Amino acid sequence: MQRVFSGIQPTGQLHLGNYLGAVHNWAKMQQHSDAFYCIVDLHSITTPQKAGSIGRETLRLAQMLLAAGLDPQVCTLFVQSHVREHTECAWLLECTVSFGELSRMAQFKDKSSRHEFISAGLFTYPALQAADILLYDTNVVPVGADQRQHIELTRDIAERFNHRYGDTFVLPTAVVPATAARVMDLQRPSDKMSKSLNSPKGTIDLLDEPTHIRKKIRSAVTDNESDVRFDVANKPGVSNLLSILAAATDRDPNTVATQYHQYGALKDDTADAVIALLAPFQARFSELEADPAQTSRLLQDGADKARELAASTLRRAKTNIGFLSDTY
Ligand code: TYM
Repeated sequence: MQRVFSGIQPTGQLHLGNYLGAVHNWAKMQQHSDAFYCIVDLHSITTPQKAGSIGRETLRLAQMLLAAGLDPQVCTLFVQSHVREHTECAWLLECTVSFGELSRMAQFKDKSSRHEFISAGLFTYPALQAADILLYDTNVVPVGADQRQHIELTRDIAERFNHRYGDTFVLPTAVVPATAARVMDLQRPSDKMSKSLNSPKGTIDLLDEPTHIRKKIRSAVTDNESDVRFDVANKPGVSNLLSILAAATDRDPNTVATQYHQYGALKDDTADAVIALLAPFQARFSELEADPAQTSRLLQDGADKARELAASTLRRAKTNIGFLSDTY
């Protein structure tokens, strides 16, 4: 069975981009693979966080992921900071990746341009991400398009490590959805929908009320033309709505486009589809929210399972480098 691994940061709300670009696929893939899904809280502190809030956000995100369809009976859901092998392995990989490679990462360039304090952790972030993936002998990493570069770097790091120290890590491949791999902000369709964009009217949070979802989609920025066609370069706003509607109803955006002649009808149907898609998620979240202890227990079990695998891979990596063993 293929090993699947992916991660998500516990900052702010889960939005429609996270859902259509990644989590929707996670729920599908858990059925026919050995899937590990990780809330990457250590990655979140690469940019300044309010003291005391991260634990609450982590638990809430776990509840959202379960509400979105992750099934703890078939996949392993855990918190990155509960498995300390991640940070230890990250060090080995920081020593395997070059300053130049890390400097070329688009996420680093973007985030460092938006923050005054640029932590060393923000720079070495991709080495920790590589550790997340490589510790689990991962074959496939389901992500949105923005993470492709990090997964390619992870492959390069694994290849270099294997070349230097002998066969240690499995080389992973990114899997990006055919539709909605990059959901754009509804108000600024040239920017991707993002927790850090701070654009409440352009972002659909998965817990938004139906009336708010409809309002946001109705006021989405389109263009001055009137024809509906899927053309990301010239019609980013309309194409974004088509992608969202297509992904929410499991269709192709070009096919969906042929059914519309005006923006109003496209917006109404997109709103209906998103509201229908999120209704079961929202109901399930309310149930899970009422019993936080259940989710905490589940995360503990997940970490126990993850630790076993991570410890064995880390041991292999350290042995192959040739560190003096701590046992006789
Ligand atoms: P993060 O937390 O920013 O996002 C989680 C997942 O959501 C996808 N995504 C999107 N997809 C489509 N359209 C969007 N607008 C959009 N915004 C976000 C992301 O591509 C991602 O798949 N570095 C990662 C977290 C990470 C990770 C890992 C991922 C840490 N370790 C190991 C995979 C494997 C991140 O910041 O994702």
